[in-house]
Amino acid sequence: MTLARPAMLLAVAALLGAPLPSFAQGAAAEGERAFRTRCASCHSLDPGQNRAGPSLAGVVGRKAGSVEGARYSKALQESGVTWDAQSLDAFLADPRKTVPGTTMTVALRDAAQRAAIIAYLNGR
Ligand code: HEC
Repeated sequence: MTLARPAMLLAVAALLGAPLPSFAQGAAAEGERAFRTRCASCHSLDPGQNRAGPSLAGVVGRKAGSVEGARYSKALQESGVTWDAQSLDAFLADPRKTVPGTTMTVALRDAAQRAAIIAYLNGR
């Protein structure tokens, strides 16, 4: 296996020298995968398409509980939250603690996964 090592070093060197996608792009790609498996059953990214949960199109920057025609808890509608990276991170880490009475119960313990999903949602 002595030959494998220099080959691996070369591969690493090639990787480091290559124009790597920015961290944000990498995180967003990871976020897309996580969104599909953890969120998409209840949330669409198409505007106006509400499932069990509201469409998340344009969620970053909008007021919580403000999608027309979506079924919201009173708690979320009256939360006074505007979604940004910080409030989304807190909500996704522990929705029921952040907005007591919310009907969204999916919590993500993994901070990196939350960050990736938020990066993916940003600008959608
Ligand atoms: C089992 C269904 C379900 C899943 C899975 C789910 N959600 Fe939700 N989500 C909801 C419901 C229902 C609401 C509305 C909550 C309320 O009104 O209190 C909601 C609300 C939200 C809101 C607030 C939207 C707004 O318009 O204010 C965000 C943000 C959100 N979810 C993100 C996510 C993310 C990100 C995931 C994946 C990690 C996810 N949700 C997974 C059901 C779900």
